[in-house]
Amino acid sequence: MTGTAAGFNEDQRTRWNGIDGEYWTREQERMDRTLAPVLGPLLAFAEPREASAVIDIGCGSGATTVELARAVGPSGRVLGIDLSEPMLNRARERLRGFAHAVCIAGDAAEVFLGDIGAELMVSRFGVMFFGNPAAAFSNLRTGLVPGGRLRFACWRPIHENPWLRVPLDAVYEHVPRLPNPDPDEPGPFAFADPDRVAGILMAAGFTAPVFTPLDIQMDLAAGGTLEDAVSQSSSIGPAKRALANQPDEVRAAAVESIRRALAPFAARSGVNLPGAVWLVAADRA
Ligand SMILES: C[S@@+](CC[C@H](N)C(=O)[O-])C[C@H]1O[C@@H](n2cnc3c(N)ncnc32)[C@H](O)[C@@H]1O
Repeated sequence: MTGTAAGFNEDQRTRWNGIDGEYWTREQERMDRTLAPVLGPLLAFAEPREASAVIDIGCGSGATTVELARAVGPSGRVLGIDLSEPMLNRARERLRGFAHAVCIAGDAAEVFLGDIGAELMVSRFGVMFFGNPAAAFSNLRTGLVPGGRLRFACWRPIHENPWLRVPLDAVYEHVPRLPNPDPDEPGPFAFADPDRVAGILMAAGFTAPVFTPLDIQMDLAAGGTLEDAVSQSSSIGPAKRALANQPDEVRAAAVESIRRALAPFAARSGVNLPGAVWLVAADRA
């Protein structure tokens, strides 16, 4: 089934309920600090309105869901959707003080949204992992009122994202290069190409999307040390994939190369490398 939409989806469900979901839940505070430079700009871009209904797609551990709940206030509603049980559990803990926000387990392509009537749908890096993005966005559209707004953040290509490319290049000193991804394969860079994203969104019943570049500094150490940055870099993204199933001695050598590659970026607090994001806006047609 690998290579098909169903196979991709199954793989993502397994990852986000297994190794990836466990890492993101355990390291939630660090991941939130590393991704913090995206949070403010995404919220400013999305402009959640007081007393409105908002959906957070791929809400994960709830960093954006909490901020959306604050923004709409108690007379609004926020619905977070994700397929990762461990991350949802973390999100629910964080949302305890917000009676008007709930998180549900569901696949974006299947979850029933017909009774929500959201004015806004937001996602921070939660839309690039759909096994079948056409089906997912067609379904997500049903959660929006006519003219409702879709606003999300996704990564631009890896060559514009040294925070992931530098560790990956260090790993490649020791392991074979990852095969070029299938163009339809989900992953962090699946939405890097605006033409592909526009095709998916417009086929699903959205207006032509507008892409706004956002350039940020990503602190891989989340305010910590070079060792923290090395640990995070080998535990997420393509570097982690390239290291999967490698023997201990190869891993150790690769981690040493990551340390050497990141050392020049280490400051007194944090290890900052550039990151490149698209902020994408489209409306329900
Ligand atoms: C990179 S994480 C981002 C999490 C969160 N938005 C944040 O910014 O911290 C991607 C999220 O998308 C979720 N996801 C992946 N495929 C999904 C799908 N088909 N339906 C719903 N959520 C999905 C994952 O479980 C994961 O929580």
